[in-house]
Amino acid sequence: MSTKTIRADQTILLNNGEKIPQLGFGVYQSPPEVTTKTVTSALEAGYKHIDSAYWYFNEKEVGEAVGEKRDSIFLTTKLGQAEKIEEHLYDSVSKIDPRENGYVNLFLIHSPSAGPEKRKEQWAALENLVKQGKAKTIGVSNYGVKHLEQMEDYAKIKPAVNQIELHPWCQQPSIVSYCQARNIALEAYSPLVQGTKASDPTLSKVAEETGKSWAQVLIRWSLQRGFIPLPKSDTKERIIANRDVFDFELSDAQMEALNGLDKDEHVCLNHTELP
Ligand SMILES: NC(=O)c1ccc[n+]([C@@H]2O[C@H](COP(=O)([O-])OP(=O)(O)OC[C@H]3O[C@@H](n4cnc5c(N)ncnc54)[C@H](OP(=O)(O)O)[C@@H]3O)[C@@H](O)[C@H]2O)c1
Repeated sequence: MSTKTIRADQTILLNNGEKIPQLGFGVYQSPPEVTTKTVTSALEAGYKHIDSAYWYFNEKEVGEAVGEKRDSIFLTTKLGQAEKIEEHLYDSVSKIDPRENGYVNLFLIHSPSAGPEKRKEQWAALENLVKQGKAKTIGVSNYGVKHLEQMEDYAKIKPAVNQIELHPWCQQPSIVSYCQARNIALEAYSPLVQGTKASDPTLSKVAEETGKSWAQVLIRWSLQRGFIPLPKSDTKERIIANRDVFDFELSDAQMEALNGLDKDEHVCLNHTELP
């Protein structure tokens, strides 16, 4: 299959045999009072994968929007604490899926910032969560190569995912190569560069050539690179438009033009170099 042929219901096979819908939907900075409406719009538009986190303070609202559709929607959350780890993990699961047998599809360590010893503890707690049936898959976020290499010494379960900032201006090639060589799926956060590149000339040219918006071009670039993009929007029209990316493809020349924009430019704090 050409990497250009991507179906709207495309999934990626993770290294533990679970499947993840390739196009996700992020809810960072979605205020809890609008998240239920936002996620309801996203589900109506056809998204099957929602990315939340303890620190987004909207896990409960995500769960409420998903409601009875729970078993057909892929839900991710993230551990952001280094103390009372187990308590926080169970708290997140019960917010996002309050059923007695509730679970999270993907639980990530939000950042390597807790330091090497705590990271080990966090991972062991996540492995335990898998044993308890409360997380189907576990992974990490904002991990650099060094953090992933350290995991090789202690992880009984290999991380299935690394969620990092990825867009044409921030392509993190060494982390991407490391993960691809080890079958660790790459989730692309801030795939729209938080709207800061809307008038970039190269992006505008590709948008004009394809008759698509700059946002649709960026999401399509991410999909064609094999990433799992997580665009965020609280605006219904944008939520719908951001999923309308399966009726066109970027040519090799257009991909190359976008690939040429890498400047290691981050819109979020870069944690991948932390000790
Ligand atoms: N693991 C981590 O540390 C981490 C860090 C950052 C992000 N993430 C994840 O990645 C997701 C996405 O990243 P992000 O929230 O930083 O930013 P993003 O998706 O790159 O950009 C979101 C911004 O773009 C605007 N937008 C969305 N669609 C648009 C469109 N079609 N036209 C014009 N503007 C549009 C949104 O505005 P409106 O909402 O007002 O429509 C919002 O201001 C997050 O929600 C989160 O799930 C993870």
